[in-house]
Amino acid sequence: MHSIREWLRDASSIAVLTGAGVSAESGVPTFRGGSGNNPGLWKRYRAEELATPAAFARDPKLVWEWYDWRRGLIAEARPNPGHYALAKAEARTPNFTLITQNVDGLHELAGSRNVLRLHGSIWILRCMECRREREDRRTPLPEIPPRCECGGMLRPGVVWFGEALPAKIWQDAEMAARSADLFLLIGTSAVVYPAAGLASMAKSVGARVVEINIAETGFSDSIDEFLQGPSGELLPQLMA
Ligand code: OAD
Repeated sequence: MHSIREWLRDASSIAVLTGAGVSAESGVPTFRGGSGNNPGLWKRYRAEELATPAAFARDPKLVWEWYDWRRGLIAEARPNPGHYALAKAEARTPNFTLITQNVDGLHELAGSRNVLRLHGSIWILRCMECRREREDRRTPLPEIPPRCECGGMLRPGVVWFGEALPAKIWQDAEMAARSADLFLLIGTSAVVYPAAGLASMAKSVGARVVEINIAETGFSDSIDEFLQGPSGELLPQLMA
Protein backbone atom coordinates (compact mmCIF):
# COMPACT_ATOMS: atom_id res chain seq x y z
CA MET A 1 0.00 0.00 0.00
CA HIS A 2 2.84 2.36 0.91
CA SER A 3 4.67 1.98 -2.41
CA ILE A 4 1.46 2.28 -4.40
CA ARG A 5 0.73 5.57 -2.65
CA GLU A 6 4.13 6.80 -3.76
CA TRP A 7 3.60 5.60 -7.32
CA LEU A 8 0.28 7.44 -7.38
CA ARG A 9 1.85 10.59 -6.05
CA ASP A 10 4.80 10.53 -8.44
CA ALA A 11 3.05 9.41 -11.62
CA SER A 12 2.69 12.02 -14.31
CA SER A 13 0.39 9.87 -16.38
CA ILE A 14 -2.14 7.42 -14.98
CA ALA A 15 -4.55 5.21 -16.86
CA VAL A 16 -7.26 3.26 -15.08
CA LEU A 17 -9.48 0.46 -16.34
CA THR A 18 -12.58 -0.18 -14.28
CA GLY A 19 -15.17 -2.92 -14.46
CA ALA A 20 -18.41 -3.85 -12.80
CA GLY A 21 -16.66 -4.43 -9.44
CA VAL A 22 -16.25 -0.68 -8.79
CA SER A 23 -20.02 -0.28 -8.86
CA ALA A 24 -20.79 -3.39 -6.81
CA GLU A 25 -20.76 -1.41 -3.57
CA SER A 26 -23.27 0.97 -5.15
CA GLY A 27 -25.65 -1.96 -5.52
CA VAL A 28 -25.12 -2.61 -9.24
CA PRO A 29 -24.75 -6.34 -9.87
CA THR A 30 -21.52 -7.58 -11.47
CA PHE A 31 -21.56 -10.06 -14.34
CA ARG A 32 -19.11 -12.60 -12.99
CA GLY A 33 -17.55 -13.47 -9.68
CA GLY A 34 -19.31 -13.01 -6.39
CA SER A 35 -19.53 -9.59 -4.81
CA GLY A 36 -21.56 -10.79 -1.89
CA ASN A 37 -24.74 -9.06 -2.91
CA ASN A 38 -25.45 -10.77 -6.20
CA PRO A 39 -24.98 -13.95 -8.15
CA GLY A 40 -24.14 -12.19 -11.43
CA LEU A 41 -27.17 -13.72 -13.08
CA TRP A 42 -30.58 -12.43 -14.11
CA LYS A 43 -33.21 -15.15 -14.10
CA ARG A 44 -31.16 -18.03 -15.46
CA TYR A 45 -29.24 -16.08 -18.07
CA ARG A 46 -25.61 -15.08 -18.27
CA ALA A 47 -24.52 -11.80 -19.83
CA GLU A 48 -23.07 -13.67 -22.82
CA GLU A 49 -26.53 -15.03 -23.61
CA LEU A 50 -28.26 -11.65 -23.55
CA ALA A 51 -25.72 -9.02 -24.56
CA THR A 52 -25.38 -10.12 -28.17
CA PRO A 53 -26.87 -9.03 -31.49
CA ALA A 54 -28.12 -12.59 -32.03
CA ALA A 55 -29.98 -12.65 -28.71
CA PHE A 56 -31.58 -9.31 -29.54
CA ALA A 57 -32.61 -10.47 -33.01
CA ARG A 58 -34.10 -13.65 -31.54
CA ASP A 59 -35.92 -12.14 -28.58
CA PRO A 60 -35.74 -8.34 -28.26
CA LYS A 61 -38.34 -8.34 -25.50
CA LEU A 62 -36.26 -10.65 -23.28
CA VAL A 63 -33.09 -8.63 -23.84
CA TRP A 64 -34.93 -5.38 -23.15
CA GLU A 65 -36.44 -6.82 -19.95
CA TRP A 66 -32.91 -7.48 -18.73
CA TYR A 67 -31.76 -3.96 -19.60
CA ASP A 68 -34.90 -2.46 -18.09
CA TRP A 69 -34.18 -4.34 -14.85
CA ARG A 70 -30.58 -3.12 -14.82
CA ARG A 71 -31.64 0.45 -15.66
CA GLY A 72 -33.97 0.34 -12.64
CA LEU A 73 -31.14 -0.76 -10.33
CA ILE A 74 -28.71 1.77 -11.74
CA ALA A 75 -31.22 4.61 -11.44
CA GLU A 76 -31.30 3.96 -7.70
CA ALA A 77 -27.53 3.67 -7.40
CA ARG A 78 -25.22 6.43 -6.20
CA PRO A 79 -21.44 6.60 -6.65
CA ASN A 80 -19.52 4.98 -3.79
CA PRO A 81 -16.27 6.15 -2.16
CA GLY A 82 -14.26 4.29 -4.83
CA HIS A 83 -15.80 6.37 -7.63
CA TYR A 84 -15.15 9.58 -5.66
CA ALA A 85 -11.54 8.62 -4.92
CA LEU A 86 -10.89 8.18 -8.66
CA ALA A 87 -12.40 11.59 -9.40
CA LYS A 88 -10.12 13.06 -6.75
CA ALA A 89 -7.06 11.36 -8.25
CA GLU A 90 -7.91 12.83 -11.64
CA ALA A 91 -8.00 16.32 -10.18
CA ARG A 92 -4.44 16.05 -8.93
CA THR A 93 -2.71 14.11 -11.72
CA PRO A 94 -1.48 15.91 -14.85
CA ASN A 95 -2.60 13.17 -17.25
CA PHE A 96 -5.34 10.94 -16.01
CA THR A 97 -7.57 8.76 -18.16
CA LEU A 98 -10.37 6.69 -16.74
CA ILE A 99 -11.29 3.88 -19.09
CA THR A 100 -14.41 2.04 -18.05
CA GLN A 101 -16.31 -1.00 -19.24
CA ASN A 102 -19.26 0.12 -17.16
CA VAL A 103 -22.38 1.53 -18.77
CA ASP A 104 -23.87 2.92 -15.55
CA GLY A 105 -22.48 6.48 -15.68
CA LEU A 106 -21.49 6.45 -11.99
CA HIS A 107 -17.93 7.68 -12.64
CA GLU A 108 -19.29 10.80 -14.32
CA LEU A 109 -21.77 11.31 -11.46
CA ALA A 110 -18.85 11.19 -9.01
CA GLY A 111 -17.11 13.98 -10.92
CA SER A 112 -14.69 12.13 -13.20
CA ARG A 113 -14.22 14.13 -16.40
CA ASN A 114 -11.85 12.32 -18.70
CA VAL A 115 -13.89 9.11 -19.01
CA LEU A 116 -13.63 6.76 -21.96
CA ARG A 117 -16.72 4.57 -22.03
CA LEU A 118 -15.65 1.50 -23.96
CA HIS A 119 -19.04 -0.20 -23.77
CA GLY A 120 -21.39 2.76 -24.21
CA SER A 121 -24.16 3.90 -21.90
CA ILE A 122 -27.27 2.16 -20.64
CA TRP A 123 -29.13 5.50 -20.82
CA ILE A 124 -28.65 5.85 -24.58
CA LEU A 125 -31.16 4.29 -26.96
CA ARG A 126 -30.37 3.86 -30.63
CA CYS A 127 -32.77 3.22 -33.48
CA MET A 128 -32.09 0.06 -35.47
CA GLU A 129 -33.57 1.72 -38.57
CA CYS A 130 -32.66 5.41 -38.68
CA ARG A 131 -29.68 5.02 -36.26
CA ARG A 132 -30.68 8.13 -34.32
CA GLU A 133 -29.54 8.12 -30.68
CA ARG A 134 -31.28 9.71 -27.76
CA GLU A 135 -30.88 9.75 -24.00
CA ASP A 136 -33.82 8.24 -22.15
CA ARG A 137 -33.63 7.85 -18.38
CA ARG A 138 -37.17 6.64 -17.81
CA THR A 139 -37.41 3.52 -15.74
CA PRO A 140 -39.23 1.33 -16.24
CA LEU A 141 -39.56 2.11 -19.92
CA PRO A 142 -43.22 2.61 -20.86
CA GLU A 143 -43.00 0.19 -23.78
CA ILE A 144 -40.80 -2.86 -24.31
CA PRO A 145 -39.22 -3.07 -26.78
CA PRO A 146 -39.19 0.74 -27.12
CA ARG A 147 -39.83 2.32 -30.52
CA CYS A 148 -38.39 5.29 -32.38
CA GLU A 149 -40.63 7.99 -33.90
CA CYS A 150 -39.67 6.54 -37.30
CA GLY A 151 -41.28 3.25 -36.27
CA GLY A 152 -37.99 1.37 -35.94
CA MET A 153 -37.07 -0.64 -32.88
CA LEU A 154 -34.72 0.96 -30.37
CA ARG A 155 -31.77 -0.94 -28.92
CA PRO A 156 -29.60 -0.13 -25.90
CA GLY A 157 -26.66 2.14 -26.77
CA VAL A 158 -24.16 -0.35 -25.45
CA VAL A 159 -21.55 -2.55 -27.08
CA TRP A 160 -22.54 -6.20 -27.29
CA PHE A 161 -20.34 -9.27 -27.54
CA GLY A 162 -19.09 -9.60 -31.08
CA GLU A 163 -19.49 -5.88 -31.84
CA ALA A 164 -16.62 -3.50 -32.41
CA LEU A 165 -15.78 -0.94 -29.77
CA PRO A 166 -16.28 2.71 -30.76
CA ALA A 167 -13.12 3.33 -32.82
CA LYS A 168 -12.08 6.74 -31.54
CA ILE A 169 -12.68 5.82 -27.90
CA TRP A 170 -10.63 2.64 -28.29
CA GLN A 171 -7.83 4.56 -29.97
CA ASP A 172 -7.76 7.03 -27.09
CA ALA A 173 -7.80 4.17 -24.55
CA GLU A 174 -4.85 2.49 -26.25
CA MET A 175 -2.94 5.73 -26.33
CA ALA A 176 -3.64 6.33 -22.63
CA ALA A 177 -2.47 2.79 -21.76
CA ARG A 178 0.69 3.12 -23.82
CA SER A 179 1.66 6.47 -22.39
CA ALA A 180 0.85 5.75 -18.74
CA ASP A 181 3.53 5.27 -16.12
CA LEU A 182 0.98 3.77 -13.77
CA PHE A 183 -1.95 1.57 -14.80
CA LEU A 184 -4.70 0.58 -12.38
CA LEU A 185 -6.93 -2.39 -13.09
CA ILE A 186 -9.93 -2.16 -10.80
CA GLY A 187 -12.94 -4.41 -10.24
CA THR A 188 -12.77 -6.24 -13.52
CA SER A 189 -12.51 -9.96 -14.18
CA ALA A 190 -10.32 -8.93 -17.15
CA VAL A 191 -11.68 -11.64 -19.40
CA VAL A 192 -13.48 -9.55 -22.01
CA TYR A 193 -11.19 -8.44 -24.83
CA PRO A 194 -10.03 -6.08 -26.16
CA ALA A 195 -10.51 -4.10 -22.92
CA ALA A 196 -8.62 -6.70 -20.90
CA GLY A 197 -5.57 -6.28 -23.14
CA LEU A 198 -4.99 -2.69 -22.05
CA ALA A 199 -3.13 -3.67 -18.88
CA SER A 200 -0.66 -5.84 -20.82
CA MET A 201 -0.22 -3.03 -23.30
CA ALA A 202 0.69 -0.64 -20.50
CA LYS A 203 3.01 -3.21 -18.94
CA SER A 204 4.80 -3.85 -22.24
CA VAL A 205 5.82 -0.22 -22.46
CA GLY A 206 7.09 -0.12 -18.89
CA ALA A 207 4.14 1.08 -16.80
CA ARG A 208 3.65 -0.23 -13.31
CA VAL A 209 0.41 -2.17 -13.10
CA VAL A 210 -1.62 -2.36 -9.91
CA GLU A 211 -4.74 -4.47 -9.58
CA ILE A 212 -7.50 -3.95 -7.05
CA ASN A 213 -10.09 -6.69 -6.72
CA ILE A 214 -11.84 -8.70 -4.04
CA ALA A 215 -10.44 -11.86 -5.66
CA GLU A 216 -7.48 -12.76 -7.85
CA THR A 217 -8.01 -12.80 -11.60
CA GLY A 218 -6.10 -14.35 -14.50
CA PHE A 219 -4.01 -11.18 -14.56
CA SER A 220 -2.96 -11.12 -10.95
CA ASP A 221 0.29 -13.02 -11.55
CA SER A 222 1.61 -10.70 -14.21
CA ILE A 223 1.30 -7.38 -12.44
CA ASP A 224 3.39 -5.37 -9.98
CA GLU A 225 1.01 -5.22 -7.03
CA PHE A 226 -2.27 -6.89 -6.21
CA LEU A 227 -4.43 -5.29 -3.56
CA GLN A 228 -7.18 -7.56 -2.36
CA GLY A 229 -10.37 -5.97 -1.09
CA PRO A 230 -13.35 -3.86 -2.08
CA SER A 231 -12.43 -0.86 -4.23
CA GLY A 232 -14.86 1.33 -2.28
CA GLU A 233 -12.63 0.87 0.75
CA LEU A 234 -9.16 0.55 -0.78
CA LEU A 235 -9.29 3.46 -3.24
CA PRO A 236 -10.09 6.13 -0.63
CA GLN A 237 -7.23 4.77 1.53
CA LEU A 238 -4.83 4.93 -1.40
CA MET A 239 -5.82 8.46 -2.38
CA ALA A 240 -5.88 9.81 1.17
P1 OAD B 1 -17.27 -8.88 -14.18
O1 OAD B 1 -18.60 -9.08 -13.57
O2 OAD B 1 -16.78 -9.88 -15.18
O3 OAD B 1 -16.17 -8.84 -13.04
C1 OAD B 1 -16.37 -8.11 -11.87
C2 OAD B 1 -15.07 -8.17 -11.10
O4 OAD B 1 -15.19 -7.30 -10.00
C3 OAD B 1 -14.74 -9.56 -10.55
O5 OAD B 1 -13.38 -9.84 -10.83
C4 OAD B 1 -14.98 -9.42 -9.05
O6 OAD B 1 -14.08 -10.23 -8.28
C5 OAD B 1 -14.69 -7.95 -8.84
N1 OAD B 1 -15.38 -7.30 -7.70
C6 OAD B 1 -16.63 -7.52 -7.22
N2 OAD B 1 -16.91 -6.69 -6.22
C7 OAD B 1 -15.83 -5.90 -6.05
C8 OAD B 1 -15.50 -4.81 -5.18
N3 OAD B 1 -16.37 -4.37 -4.27
N4 OAD B 1 -14.28 -4.24 -5.30
C9 OAD B 1 -13.38 -4.68 -6.22
N5 OAD B 1 -13.63 -5.69 -7.06
C10 OAD B 1 -14.83 -6.30 -6.98
O7 OAD B 1 -17.29 -7.40 -14.77
P2 OAD B 1 -16.40 -6.79 -15.90
O8 OAD B 1 -14.98 -7.23 -15.80
O9 OAD B 1 -16.68 -5.35 -15.91
O10 OAD B 1 -19.76 -6.42 -21.22
O11 OAD B 1 -17.03 -7.44 -17.19
C11 OAD B 1 -16.57 -7.05 -18.44
C12 OAD B 1 -17.71 -7.01 -19.42
O12 OAD B 1 -18.38 -8.26 -19.45
C13 OAD B 1 -18.80 -6.03 -19.08
O13 OAD B 1 -18.53 -4.73 -19.51
C14 OAD B 1 -19.97 -6.59 -19.81
C15 OAD B 1 -19.81 -8.02 -19.38
O14 OAD B 1 -20.49 -8.96 -20.03
C16 OAD B 1 -20.79 -6.40 -22.06
O15 OAD B 1 -21.95 -6.40 -21.68
C17 OAD B 1 -20.39 -6.34 -23.49
